[in-house]
Formats: sequence, structure tokens, C-alpha cells
Amino acid sequence: MNLKDYIASIENFPKEGILFRDITPLMLNGEAYKYACDQMVAFAKEVGATVIVGPEARGFIFGCPVAYALNLGFAPVRKPGKLPRETVTVKYDLEYGSNELSLHADAVKKGDRVLIVDDLLATGGTVDATVQLVEKLGGQVVGAAFFIELEALKGRERLAKYPIFASLKY
Ligand code: PRP
Ligand code: ADE
Repeated sequence: MNLKDYIASIENFPKEGILFRDITPLMLNGEAYKYACDQMVAFAKEVGATVIVGPEARGFIFGCPVAYALNLGFAPVRKPGKLPRETVTVKYDLEYGSNELSLHADAVKKGDRVLIVDDLLATGGTVDATVQLVEKLGGQVVGAAFFIELEALKGRERLAKYPIFASLKY
């Protein structure tokens, strides 16, 4: 299956100069979506993950099915003001902007083997921030899995300490 057939590329979205890789055609094709999730499931098994952590919003699209397939828990990383109980929080930069991310303080326990799942690796800012949240809580990041990697933005170098999986590279 050629998974690139299920990615739409949109110029100058959401800002001038950004080539946006849209995963919604993949999600609409049950077979292709499952195939992509199954590749992440195989990586999660390889690294021995015991919990999946995924950043809002597109990290949920891949992170939840991976957790479900492996009978593991999923912890959401969210933008400010969304999580109702005690959180840990960090600031981060994006390819197009900056923000803060939070994780519930009881979402990760000391010794948990955490796989971070997101749709796309660009600068690595989002997942770098997610790593910091997990490590603040004593979790061990055993890897990060993405559907798409934008190689020119060198996110893999930023995350060099961790095993990285990506189905598609641009
Ligand atoms: C996008 C994407 C990744 C991140 C990648 O999320 O889903 O999480 O950017 O960029 P980075 O590697 O430079 O951090 P976005 O913040 O646009 O939020 P969304 O998932 O809510 O659309
Ligand atoms: N998140 C950050 N950069 C992106 C891009 N070029 N396409 C889709 N999502 C993104």
C-alpha cells in the first residue's frame, strides 16, 4: 500500500510558506488508517511501551488506536486550560507559532515506559515538550512514533536521544 496516496498537500496553510500535510484522507480510508496504526503498534511492542502519551489534537488520532490495540492506557497532552486536575506544564515552539502543553500530574508514574505518539514530526518542538512533561513525572521515554516526518526540519536530531519511528518521510 502506498500511504502517500492518502496525504493531501496544501500550499500556504495555515500560513504563507507552509506546505501542510493533511492526514484526513488517510483517516477516511479504513484500510489505510488501520495499516498506518498497525505499523505504530509494531514499534510500540518493539520498544516495550507500557503507556501511550499523545499531544492534542492529532496525536489522539494515532495514539488512542495504538493504546487500544495493545490494551495499554493513553494519556492526553493538552493545550492550556483543558485539563481539570493538577498538571505539569511546559512552553514550546512550533513550525508556525508557540504554545504551552500540560499533562495531568498522575498520568505517568515513575518507571512507566512511555511511547509518545503524534501524527507528524516537524521541528520536534511538540514532542520535545512532551518528553519534558513525561520526564518531570519520572516516566522513561522509550520512543516516539509518527505517521509523517518532515526531514528538512530536523526534528529527529532534536530527539536524537530516543528511538524514532515514522511511516512516511517528506
Ligand atoms: C502539529 C502536529 C504536531 C506538531 C508538529 O500540531 O500535529 O503535533 O504540529 O510540529 P513540531 O514537530 O514542529 O512541533 P498543532 O500544534 O498544529 O496542533 P493540532 O494537532 O491541534 O492541529
Ligand atoms: N504541523 C507542523 N508542520 C506541519 C505541516 N507542514 N503539515 C501538517 N502539520 C504540521
